Order: sequence, then C-alpha cells, then structure tokens
Amino acid sequence: MKPRHLISLLDLSGDEFRRLIARGIVLKNHRDPDYQPLKGKVLAMIFEKSSTRTRISFESGMTHFGGTALFLSPRDTQLGRGESLHDSARVISSMVDGVMLRTDRHETVTTFAQHSRVPVINGLTDLHHPCQLLADMQTYFEHRGDIKGKTVTWIGDGNNMCHSYITAAMVLDFNLNIACPEGYYPLQSIVDAAGSRIRFFDTPLEAAKDSALIVTDVWASMGQEDEQKQREQAFKSYQVDADIMKAAQADVLFMHCLPAHRGEEVSAEVIDGVQSVIFDEAENRLHAQKALLEFLLCTNHL
Ligand code: CP
Ligand code: NVA
Repeated sequence: MKPRHLISLLDLSGDEFRRLIARGIVLKNHRDPDYQPLKGKVLAMIFEKSSTRTRISFESGMTHFGGTALFLSPRDTQLGRGESLHDSARVISSMVDGVMLRTDRHETVTTFAQHSRVPVINGLTDLHHPCQLLADMQTYFEHRGDIKGKTVTWIGDGNNMCHSYITAAMVLDFNLNIACPEGYYPLQSIVDAAGSRIRFFDTPLEAAKDSALIVTDVWASMGQEDEQKQREQAFKSYQVDADIMKAAQADVLFMHCLPAHRGEEVSAEVIDGVQSVIFDEAENRLHAQKALLEFLLCTNHL
C-alpha cells in the first residue's frame, strides 16, 4: 500500500485537518510521558536549509513519543554529493519509518515521496510550508474557535507561507485577503485553484479591513538574501503596523512563522503587542506535528 504523505495541505481533507488540530490541542494539554506510540520508530530529517523550530519540534516530538529523529545534512550524506533522489529515497525509506525533508525545490520533495516506502513530510520548500499552517491553525482555533467563514489577511511576499495560507483557506474554508507589492504575487496556478475565497487588494490597509487574523513573513526568504536591498524598497509600504491592526476586527490576532525582522515586515509594537500570538504559534509546531506524526506513522490512527 502507498504511504500517505504531507507534501501540501491539499493532502488533507477539511475533516482530517480539523481532527489534527483537535488532537494537537489534546496532546498539548494532557501530556502523558507513558504514551509512546512511536516507540522504536525512526524519523529521518533531511535539512538542506537552516532551521530552529522545525528541527527542534520534530526531534522533541519523536522523543516524547518514544522514537528517534535522525538529523541529516547534505554536507554529511551522499545526497549532498549528487546521489540521485530516486536511489536516496529507496535506500533511506527502507531503514526508517518516516522522512521529513526541508529543501529549496518543491519537486525534490514530490520526487522523494514518489520513491519512498514511508510517509514523507514537507518541512518547507520554495512553494509550501504545510507544517507551519498546522501550528498556525491550531493557534487560531485555541484562541478564537473554528476559522471557517472568517477572513484572514496575508500582507507581504507571495511566498511559500502565502501559498500555504491559500491552500489552508481551501481546506478549512476561510476567506483570504492578500496585499503584495507588484512582482511579488503568489503563483497564479495556486491562486486559481482556490477560486473566489482569495481576494487581492492594492494596499495592506484595505486588505486588513474586518480581518480576524493578520499574517506576514520576512521580505527575503532563505536563499533570497542577495535580494534583501531590492526587496526592502519594494516592500517598504507593506509593514504590518498599528494602523493596519486597527483596520481589522477588534479581536484580530497577529501571526508570523518566525524568524521575524522587527522594523521590516512588522513593527515591534505589533509583534510584541497583545494581539500577537507568535510564541503560541511557535510552541504549537511541537504539538501539531506530534498529532501529524501519530496520524502518518501510527497505523489505525484518526
Ligand atoms: N517557522 C519555521 O519553520 O522556523 P524554522 O525555520 O526555525 O524551522
Ligand atoms: N518564507 C520563509 C519561511 C521561514 C520559516 C523562508 O522560506 O525562508
């Protein structure tokens, strides 16, 4: 039987996504050290890019569940010396119970998954960051309840996080307002698939109107460091500040996947203010991914 993967959020139904969120909340609030559903299981974590949250949350999650996580960097494996993805996927997946992959090209994850015998989890690519959305949505549900029918606003780069918000809007059925500078829009094919739930606005202020959640991300993602100066120019009127937060609903929340640059994509006043739930969001990477690991790696779960 083909294993289930999490390559993008479109791999989940709305019902499964909601059950993962509910399970993440239970695992967070009732930690039982004797519950070790992944005892003896191994997760290989291939990181071709830097990480704090993703690495620590998966590693801790596997440990809590009685399993082990292997950190693999391209510097130390034959993947980094050009061994084919096909061969690497066959070999690695014959020895472990799951694989998490963080890499540049989305096709690397899809190709790896095609040849893997075990579940593959996308730990971030140039197109998607689904694990972050599991945590973001758990955070929203904890603070405000179900997000169905609500309006979320994305401000800034039409990047991997923006794409993941678009797919989350499709799966969980919420509306997404987007304000991006010219030339930094999300991929049209991803936008088209989401239909009328997605609306574009000329200014962040208009996009924020009546919003229940405002989200942004860095202006230059990993690998785009050379474009920093040019992007600072393009994005300078896209900082999430107190005026933008005021345009939204009174109970609006602010999220950012982190790492953040205060004074660039978000003012310190907003990210460190009372509407910001960034540290719940970061902690929930652990709980949400434990729910995901249980779902993908334990048979008969959910
Ligand atoms: N948000 C996130 O994925 O953080 P890391 O890059 O630290 O893993
Ligand atoms: N868009 C950012 C997200 C980091 C978690 C990046 O890809 O670098």
